[in-house]
Amino acid sequence: MHTTVGIIGGGPSGLLLARLLHNAGIDSVVLERRDRAYVEQRQRAGILEQATADVLIAAGAGARLQREGIPHDGIELRFGRRAHRLDFPALTGGRRVWVYAQTEVVKDLVALHLAEGGPLLFEAEVRAVEGADTERPLIRYTHEGREQTLTCDYVIGCDGYHGVARTALPEQVRTTYERVYPYSWLGILAEAAPVYDELIYAHSERGFALASMRSPTVSRLYLQVPNGTDPADWPDERIWDELDTRFAIDAEPGWRLKRGPVTGKAVLPMRSSVTEPMCHGRLFLAGDAAHIVPPTGAKGLNLAATDVIVLARAFAHLKETGSTALLEAYSDTCLRRVWRAEHFSWFMTTTLHTDPHQSPFETRLQLSQLDRVASSPHAAAELAENYTGLPLDPAPASV
Ligand code: APR
Ligand code: PHB
Repeated sequence: MHTTVGIIGGGPSGLLLARLLHNAGIDSVVLERRDRAYVEQRQRAGILEQATADVLIAAGAGARLQREGIPHDGIELRFGRRAHRLDFPALTGGRRVWVYAQTEVVKDLVALHLAEGGPLLFEAEVRAVEGADTERPLIRYTHEGREQTLTCDYVIGCDGYHGVARTALPEQVRTTYERVYPYSWLGILAEAAPVYDELIYAHSERGFALASMRSPTVSRLYLQVPNGTDPADWPDERIWDELDTRFAIDAEPGWRLKRGPVTGKAVLPMRSSVTEPMCHGRLFLAGDAAHIVPPTGAKGLNLAATDVIVLARAFAHLKETGSTALLEAYSDTCLRRVWRAEHFSWFMTTTLHTDPHQSPFETRLQLSQLDRVASSPHAAAELAENYTGLPLDPAPASV
């Protein structure tokens, strides 16, 4: 089999890229290791920047997002037993975000691609990428118990952090910058109506907590826990009690979450990672294959979407003009924005969590930083701009 663009991985990056290429009249094949049900049920984050939502809508994948997505005009920060709201449109000149789960984005893209796109093979596990620096790279994969090969003009690794594409970049050209955090998240999904209208990010002496949502009847909640925590050590009542303690504020002594049946519970490690460059020869990395952010800034899916938008534009440019200039610029174009998001995600993570080894001095610094965000429109705007999403290619400020 031969295709123009061979895509490894059917997560949000691979699926959105395949859709954008299809719309540009460029053929592709998507190879996904897992089965469809697994890919469609995997729980991930749930915040879309306006720009990500706009791209999904323009790509024809936004019908359900427009019906079921919940626009949010702010978030609440809780620290020092006080609450402070950030008003995104006021701080950013009109930008907002959407609550719409990544799982739903994946379901929409899979359905659309199977109905009208090119081949999307599930249970097709890629074993190797060969000839990345030749004119005709090749993907080796297994499907239905047989070894198969796919020759391509270009190969895109959308196969996440543990995939094969990143390590197919020769060791001597690739550098991975990494940080592992000394805490994890315990996440639950609950059949309970959120009692809050917007997401709540809480810093407390007992650790970080986040209240998010999936719909008007389903809550998504997270607690900072030590690395290596066994979810079995956290019965439902213990989780609810701990959440209520971490969210407590003096102004509303009776404030409690609404409790309901817990339908999912998992521990998620936290890591930052960037691999440079994001390409070698005709092999390109996109999404989690190239970079990981801790989920505190809700940037993972949005960064993945930007990568594939840049790639799809570069392939359309190649098709129209014969020029590979945009493909050659891909890594540099993306990395500038990737590092901005890495910094923001690191900032949100280290400001809101309690490092088990941190000193009282460091706790005071965190509280001072949060107080600054709560009291200065400039500091608040900096957070809001990053959260709602920075432009793809910001011009340097004039002097
Ligand atoms: N062969 C084929 N498919 C593979 C292989 C392989 N060898 N290895 C991994 N995959 C598949 C995985 O099964 C998964 O479906 O690649 C896909 C990668 O998807 P994601 O991990 O969701 O990565 P990405 O599409 O880049 O999406 C980034 O996911 O982790 C979140 O926060 C992150 O929201 C961000 C988004
Ligand atoms: C989520 O809803 O899963 C979510 C929201 C915001 C985050 C992280 C996760 O920062």
